[in-house]
Amino acid sequence: MSAATLQSLDMAVLLARFDAARGTIAGAIRTERRLSDLTGVFANEAAYRAACSAGNPLVYSVEAVEPGTGEGDLHYGLGVIYPGRVGREYFMTKGHLHSWREAAELYIGLSGQGIMLLEDEATGESRMLTLGPGCAVYVPGHTGHRTINVGDVPLSYMGVYPARAGHDYGIYASRNFRCTIVDDDGTPRMIGRDLISL
Ligand SMILES: [Fe+2]
Repeated sequence: MSAATLQSLDMAVLLARFDAARGTIAGAIRTERRLSDLTGVFANEAAYRAACSAGNPLVYSVEAVEPGTGEGDLHYGLGVIYPGRVGREYFMTKGHLHSWREAAELYIGLSGQGIMLLEDEATGESRMLTLGPGCAVYVPGHTGHRTINVGDVPLSYMGVYPARAGHDYGIYASRNFRCTIVDDDGTPRMIGRDLISL
């Protein structure tokens, strides 16, 4: 149980300074994902292997702030996805459900041009929603979510979620999302993964 109060929290917890362009928050925990960390994410295996061999670029980074672990606490993270493609698919995150399935999350677009792919865990219904400056995306509980950079510059965003949400990558590591976002002559389009043409 958390007993955090204004008196027990220092200024580094109460006030965080972040750099949206660099994807950094002072004092935060940093995670980086290179292309080789995203096995099974992209449909075009040959293009994936070639891009891993040719430099294995950084695809995204997340810096997270975790002030407390109590029932009512919040965690938040600053994500940056770099521009790039593998075959017809854009650079994207692994995607996850929350371990505590009821946990919702709010994504706030800061810069760049992105899309969030949402998938209802029970029905498989999928939605694509714009994520960029002036856009906030509410991800309900029981919803898989993946973030995609569909522009030519880094996409940065903040995600805010319950401290006890947790990340469950398991289901998507084994079967991936049902839909994906492809570049269709310059326009991002959502299609079933079984319909993707390489
Ligand atoms: Fe999440």
